[in-house]
Amino acid sequence: MLRPRHSLLTALFVLLPVGAAPAQNLDSLLARMTLEEKLGQLNLLSAGGKASPEQTALVRRGLVGGLFNVIGTENTRAVDRVATTESRLKIPLLFGLDVIHGFRTIFPIPLAEAGAFDPELAEATARAAGREAAAAGINWTYAPMVDIARDPRWGRIAEGSGEDTYLGSLLAAARVRGFQESILATAKHFAAYGAAEGGRDYNSADISPRTLREVYLPPFKAAVDAGVATLMSAFNDIGGVPASGNAWLTDTLLRREWRFNGMVVSDWTSVAELIPHGIAGSREEAGRRALTAGVDMDMQSSIYVETLAPLVQGGRIPMAVVDEAVRRVLRAKARVAALKPVLPNPVEIRALARRAARESIVLLKNDRSLLPLDRATPVIAVIGPLADNQLDPLGPWHTDGKPEDVVTVLQGIKTRVPSGTQVLYAQGAGIEDPSTAGFAEAVAAAQRAKVAILVLGERHDMSGEAASRAYLGLPGVQQQLLEAVAATGTPIVLVLMNGRPLILEWAAEHVPAIVEDWYLGVESGNATAEVLFGEVNPSGRLAVTFPRALGQIPLYYNHRNTGRPPAADKFTSKYIDAPVTPRYPFGYGLSYTTFTYRDLRIASRTTVGSRDLQAGPVRLGPTDTLSVVVTVTNTGTREGTEVAQLYVRDEVASVARPVRELRGFRRVTLKPGEARRIELLLAARDLAFYGLDMKAVVEAGTFRVFVGPNSIEGLEATFEVAYP
Ligand code: NOJ
Repeated sequence: MLRPRHSLLTALFVLLPVGAAPAQNLDSLLARMTLEEKLGQLNLLSAGGKASPEQTALVRRGLVGGLFNVIGTENTRAVDRVATTESRLKIPLLFGLDVIHGFRTIFPIPLAEAGAFDPELAEATARAAGREAAAAGINWTYAPMVDIARDPRWGRIAEGSGEDTYLGSLLAAARVRGFQESILATAKHFAAYGAAEGGRDYNSADISPRTLREVYLPPFKAAVDAGVATLMSAFNDIGGVPASGNAWLTDTLLRREWRFNGMVVSDWTSVAELIPHGIAGSREEAGRRALTAGVDMDMQSSIYVETLAPLVQGGRIPMAVVDEAVRRVLRAKARVAALKPVLPNPVEIRALARRAARESIVLLKNDRSLLPLDRATPVIAVIGPLADNQLDPLGPWHTDGKPEDVVTVLQGIKTRVPSGTQVLYAQGAGIEDPSTAGFAEAVAAAQRAKVAILVLGERHDMSGEAASRAYLGLPGVQQQLLEAVAATGTPIVLVLMNGRPLILEWAAEHVPAIVEDWYLGVESGNATAEVLFGEVNPSGRLAVTFPRALGQIPLYYNHRNTGRPPAADKFTSKYIDAPVTPRYPFGYGLSYTTFTYRDLRIASRTTVGSRDLQAGPVRLGPTDTLSVVVTVTNTGTREGTEVAQLYVRDEVASVARPVRELRGFRRVTLKPGEARRIELLLAARDLAFYGLDMKAVVEAGTFRVFVGPNSIEGLEATFEVAYP
């Protein structure tokens, strides 16, 4: 254990159960605070590694509640000491940081890790990141990012769990649990930030109340139910009301309906941005709008601390609103004081990074079983700007991650081949550089080799914040490089590193094997080489749809059917120049073995074993659970892991329902020839949607359940929901 921090608040709150914070202690502290000190607690500032002298002076005057981007215990302790010994009230600081997918040991980006369909893994990596961050003095992460994203142009799709609400909600809760062993977590960006129009970062989200409730909000609710300490209000507006000044969102919904009693922090200057949004004409008006809406901490605008005192004194902001915000900040600090961060174990964390990287890799294509490769292949060419690159596999938001910790694909391959195997390396091109000068060397290497592995994709900062793209092909001249190398006739394995789905039509048609790495973090090259040589059988699945064409976006599996579903008839919902289907659907991913599904049986849980499961329709009461049993068989010659997925469809309802919705999954590891009967459970309440009156309802009627390897295949059965 690290030593708990000692402070006035520690003395007041330590060891008290979270939520049962002693109101009288808080109140007596509040009673001792000046208005300036109260507004100071609501002030959150970014430092450049360590607190500046000006920031330290503000801390001494009690005008700062938290700092972020202060890294290293020496730096956090130094300024915390000023807060706890030199400021009048001696209240400790919050130390925030964007610990998104690892602190020092960088794990796969969240979008990649989501493809492991493994909440236990997500919890473990968040726990490890929390431990490493706590050991460096951090007590608050701005993660998990739980924004559902259906638009790959949006760079921040990399930071979340992809397009599915059910998977995203499970992973949100898992990551909150993981982080909060050692540091506070933040569910962000509340809300609908992922619905930015055109995939352009910070853009408006004009979204129906139903889609907001059903698609974008559940991961936040899951985080709240998992006990998340804080939420971050988003940059975007929803239908004209910016999320950082939206009383319905941060008060009515979050605090009254969901009973969230934690703290809301704004995003970076999102309070000041209410001015360009056009809902405030001055800084104080922006501050008033945000604070009265329920945004407790002002990140980086300094508006609360600098401008709100006269408004409070003049009665335009009730003191009770300020006090409530201060209470929430102090309660967050009390939670920090009660944490008992666990010391990180570097060896275990590195091993976890390997496991996470292995589980995240998705095999997209493998014609004629080109993969796995024989290690003893006499000559292997390894080509591309990402093949021997130690920076980009860290992905966006790599915090304290260091390129020197990264094993590249080239290194991973070299350490695994026998001495008789020659590995030829050629960079071929840069990531965005227009020069083709390196092509000749790459082509020559491929000509000499039995197989060419091309590692292509995006730079780490081409996704993440402020990194929206309008074209989703391989950047720079990489597509030409790929085609030039393919023209040699040497079989090609394309390994992709990218923070979003790319449009890969040429590769999907001409390249025999495609491996989606995303950004795998420090163990990138080891995990990739293990997959290439078959030491690891890939089991990752896509947590997001890959479109065929830019014009198809947004394209997501759980869409509604329309009155004219695509069909041969011209007057149906489709394009005249592109298919409506994706290149690779949600949930998709291959293995070096094959799996089949058979004998799907369903029954109401209450009747399992007590009735002939095939006789008559299966009826489910509104509080019942459906048992879905299926046999999964490994029909190939290698051990492998299948991600069995359960989807539902409500056939007829008062509101059009999605064609399929994920409601369950299971990772099953099977030996060659092994068959296993697995059971997935579906609670009737998981069939709820928002009805015509915008209340959650499970309507009686016929439903279809699908079980299979992805969102477009699988066995199906029908059941009824009936009210007694
Ligand atoms: C802006 C980003 O939108 C947010 O996700 C992040 O937590 C803050 N900056 C702090 O770095």
